[in-house]
Amino acid sequence: VARLLGQLGHEVIAASPKTGVDAVTGEGLEQAVSGAGVVVDVMNAPSWEDHAVVKFFETTSHNLLTAEAKAGVQHHVALSVVGTDRFQDSGYFRAKLAQEKLIESSGIPFTIVRATQFFEFLHALADFNTVDGGEIRLPPAKMQPMAAEDVATELADFTLGTPVSGIVEIAGPEVFGIDEAVWQVLSATGDQRRVVTDSKALYYGISMSGRTLTPGANARITSTRLAEWLKLSYQPVG
Ligand SMILES: NC(=O)c1ccc[n+]([C@@H]2O[C@H](COP(=O)([O-])OP(=O)(O)OC[C@H]3O[C@@H](n4cnc5c(N)ncnc54)[C@H](OP(=O)(O)O)[C@@H]3O)[C@@H](O)[C@H]2O)c1
Repeated sequence: VARLLGQLGHEVIAASPKTGVDAVTGEGLEQAVSGAGVVVDVMNAPSWEDHAVVKFFETTSHNLLTAEAKAGVQHHVALSVVGTDRFQDSGYFRAKLAQEKLIESSGIPFTIVRATQFFEFLHALADFNTVDGGEIRLPPAKMQPMAAEDVATELADFTLGTPVSGIVEIAGPEVFGIDEAVWQVLSATGDQRRVVTDSKALYYGISMSGRTLTPGANARITSTRLAEWLKLSYQPVG
């Protein structure tokens, strides 16, 4: 996002612990948002354990929004996840909803962009669901993943637009079973692990029975297809 906005001539500061800014402790936060017209929050928590992740998103959102109010920021853009309100049996999604609620009640004009899973995230999902012997059990529930580059393009566009003061959805162009999307990534990368379709398998602790990760009818659909992204991201195997 910072690269895209910088290319368009905007002055952008990328702030995170690696550059000395910590939204949990507040270190460097006031200086980072001072003079900013727009703040884009794409933070993620280091631990997804139920209690830790809720604490992370509540603390960072509170600290960031407080600093923004003080600095007179005119637009808060945040990245959230499609289906956040549907998966409240998950600590991660409770954390994301808590983040959204803090933004909505902050008084700062905002745009909440809910994205589907990034292609870049599918390998981590494979690792998380791998059981002994290299077998990966995944549910066939539908997902509509997208390229992180497309997420950044859409976020940059919303950043430069008028605050929606609501929630918008963005998603990739194709619908896959979760099992199928992961299988495509593994086969393109020469990964020998076997994907087993199991409708009872959990998605990060969430039962997907009768549920999907796909967006609603008004989502903005991006252009990069999974096969095209795999071709660009990985050398041919074999
Ligand atoms: N990944 C997906 O498939 C996906 C899909 C939809 C929505 N999202 C949402 O997109 C957001 C980003 O996810 P991601 O997968 O891109 O995360 P990520 O790659 O793990 O990046 C997390 C970022 O948060 C920063 N960060 C961590 N702790 C921080 C702190 N205490 N203060 C300030 N910054 C901190 C990290 O900074 P450093 O670089 O300094 O470590 C890093 O830049 C999340 O809110 C997530 O819910 C992700």
